[in-house]
Amino acid sequence: AGQAMWGGRFSDKPDELMQAINVSIGFDKRLALQDLAGSRAHCAMLRKAGVISSEDADAILGGLETIGREIAAGTFPFRDEYEDIHMNVEARLRELIGSAAGRLHTARSRNDQVAVDFRMWVREACDRTVGLLQGLQRALLAQAEAHADALMPGFTHLQPAQPVTFGHHMLAYVEMFGRDASRFADARKRMNESPLGAAALAGSPFPIDRHMTAEALGFDRPTANSLDSVSDRDFALESLAAGSICAIHLSRLAEEIVIWMTPQFGFVKLSDAFTTGSSIMPQKKNPDAAELIRAKAGRLMGAFTQLATVMKGLPLTYSKDMQEDKVPTFEAFDALELSLRAMTGMVADLAPNRERMAAAAGSGFSTATDLADWLVRELGLPFRDAHHVTGAAVKRAEQLGCELPDLPLSELQALDGRITQGIYDVLTPAASAASRKSYGGTAPDQVRAQVRRWKEILA
Ligand code: ARG
Repeated sequence: AGQAMWGGRFSDKPDELMQAINVSIGFDKRLALQDLAGSRAHCAMLRKAGVISSEDADAILGGLETIGREIAAGTFPFRDEYEDIHMNVEARLRELIGSAAGRLHTARSRNDQVAVDFRMWVREACDRTVGLLQGLQRALLAQAEAHADALMPGFTHLQPAQPVTFGHHMLAYVEMFGRDASRFADARKRMNESPLGAAALAGSPFPIDRHMTAEALGFDRPTANSLDSVSDRDFALESLAAGSICAIHLSRLAEEIVIWMTPQFGFVKLSDAFTTGSSIMPQKKNPDAAELIRAKAGRLMGAFTQLATVMKGLPLTYSKDMQEDKVPTFEAFDALELSLRAMTGMVADLAPNRERMAAAAGSGFSTATDLADWLVRELGLPFRDAHHVTGAAVKRAEQLGCELPDLPLSELQALDGRITQGIYDVLTPAASAASRKSYGGTAPDQVRAQVRRWKEILA
């Protein structure tokens, strides 16, 4: 078919390789609905501004409606020879309504067209992601509430540090995903300006009303600089940055689930719904979903790097390089949305083994800090001295092959004669966790208070 759009200037057809590298319809068809919305708003505005006649506007809007139905029905002919979604829609419109179709592109360029389409797509993706994040937070909150007092070891360096509660651990992720949601919401606010009407790069000589199209498309206002409008892909980069951080959080939770699932830890079980077996080893139950979520973070970070690399040296304004903005962004959000859904399912499916976690919480001398604190509080020892005495107690327990609560009082008194029976009150993991009542601490009551706070936020 050659290239009818610029046939005036060109007499020869493009080389096959030119077409192959140029064509984007295979992926930018995902902008079809946004493209139609942008065209409807542009058309209505052109009519109101008196740039096109009412009859032409009606014909165009009717044709766009037909195209919308064809897209919904899956019968729209996406054709490579028309290169991208914008020219595919326009070519189809011409087939449907004839030459009036050519008036739609008045005071518009594909440069502002793709900018507005893509912004709307990214905006919707951010909104969907916020919804998915809230769903994940709710699943975590349900676990936190059910296991507000379930003891588990808290780790630093993946070494037992101090007893915490499973609910508290779940709430740590509720906080992270809350920040992620706020990053997407924040990016959305910044991106919510309409570039439509910037035209090719310099604005338009027609009496267009950019505020009208901005409002019709749900933007807060039009962008204020036409050059920036067609050059800017910050909105995509920012959402990919937010997506990367979110994927990192998902990956960390996935990693913990993988660790907790090992028979050596045995902290949680996943049902058959979120595990897979092995084709050779009959005993296996593998946490594949968690592993894949862990790995998909690579896609998000890769997508950010990919687009940042495309953009970093581009002179103003539009360059065709920017057509490469879409694939990484689409793929990143596909991966993120799937990861969020799978993680939500997996968190709801998690069955913590409370006995096993509690036993682990009491091992590894995890209440050593509580012992030292008791020496400070009850005997008035400087913390450094208390640390020393406690270290000796741990060493003695290790020699005897027992945990701190099992050390005979005589052993403790050999280290400091003033130690009394009362010290045993602070040496159990339950007492240790319950004592950490500071705001945001791991005590079950604090956990329940934070669950209530988050439930109100999410209500
Ligand atoms: N398909 C192009 C893209 O995605 C649309 C803009 C093309 N503009 C141009 N002047 N060639 O970036």
